[in-house]
Amino acid sequence: MKELQGQIAVVTGAAQGLGLGMAEELATSGARVFIADAQEEKARDAAAGLTEKGLLVESAFIDVSDTVSVDSCFDAIVAKHGRIDILVNNAGVGQKVAAVVELADEEWDRVIEITLSGVFRCCRKVGGIMERQEGGSIVNISSINGQNPAALVAAYNVAKAGVISLTRTLALELAAYGVRVNAICPGPVYTDFNRTVMSQRRESLGISEEEMIEKVRTAVPLGRWGEPKDIAQAVAFLCGSESSWMTGDVIRVSGGLEGVSAAPPRRK
Ligand SMILES: NC(=O)c1ccc[n+]([C@@H]2O[C@H](COP(=O)([O-])OP(=O)(O)OC[C@H]3O[C@@H](n4cnc5c(N)ncnc54)[C@H](O)[C@@H]3O)[C@@H](O)[C@H]2O)c1
Repeated sequence: MKELQGQIAVVTGAAQGLGLGMAEELATSGARVFIADAQEEKARDAAAGLTEKGLLVESAFIDVSDTVSVDSCFDAIVAKHGRIDILVNNAGVGQKVAAVVELADEEWDRVIEITLSGVFRCCRKVGGIMERQEGGSIVNISSINGQNPAALVAAYNVAKAGVISLTRTLALELAAYGVRVNAICPGPVYTDFNRTVMSQRRESLGISEEEMIEKVRTAVPLGRWGEPKDIAQAVAFLCGSESSWMTGDVIRVSGGLEGVSAAPPRRK
């Protein structure tokens, strides 16, 4: 019998990138996985792709910035399958690179709304479901930026630091119900999200994409970028019985990179 056999799992933001890798890993471990994403068609195609590999995967629409959407997504899953055993809060957006003194209200609000408040909404809803069923595991995806802020992305740093604090708070509140809540801080993985941030940063540094990729690679102590599977395996560990005495923990999976703390030059 596989480790997660018979469990119902939901991964938000899993239509692509790291979330898709997590969905595949959890399904390979035996779980029935919901790819919940705001990109409805892409989520459907991703689920179909994994189903073709013989895995139990379905898709669902969710907009984590909207409480009604969050609540109805999880209500529908419980109505169909009776419970939710695993929730991975992976959906998040990066920030348009800007110094705090030039950061617009709209950009600050957009990033906090999705990347932090989105995790709160999903934790609130599914935390309640897991509390009632007296069991479950929640894994929140933070970032190395949540532990060590990088310059020019303050809203993202704050959102990811908030995800760590929320994780530790919820772990305390749900411990009496046997529900575990942990967080992972990934280092750099070359997804759509990272490509966008890197292209903005390399423009400000005046270097090519190849040079930027190499600059990041050499900053990682283990000497390579991460792969979605590196992060997915840590998620699966935190969902399974091997981590049954872990809650409120924050695991960095980054090839040893603690953060990017360089101070940028004066702005023109
Ligand atoms: N890639 C990295 O290097 C890296 C490093 C550290 C942390 N992370 C974090 O990992 C997570 C996944 O990142 P990724 O690189 O795969 O990004 P990505 O942009 O490739 O994927 C993010 C997914 O989230 C979905 N999403 C965005 N807004 C949503 C909303 N309001 N409701 C529902 N879904 C929404 C998108 O549709 C997309 O499918 C993010 O939280 C990100 O901050 C990524």
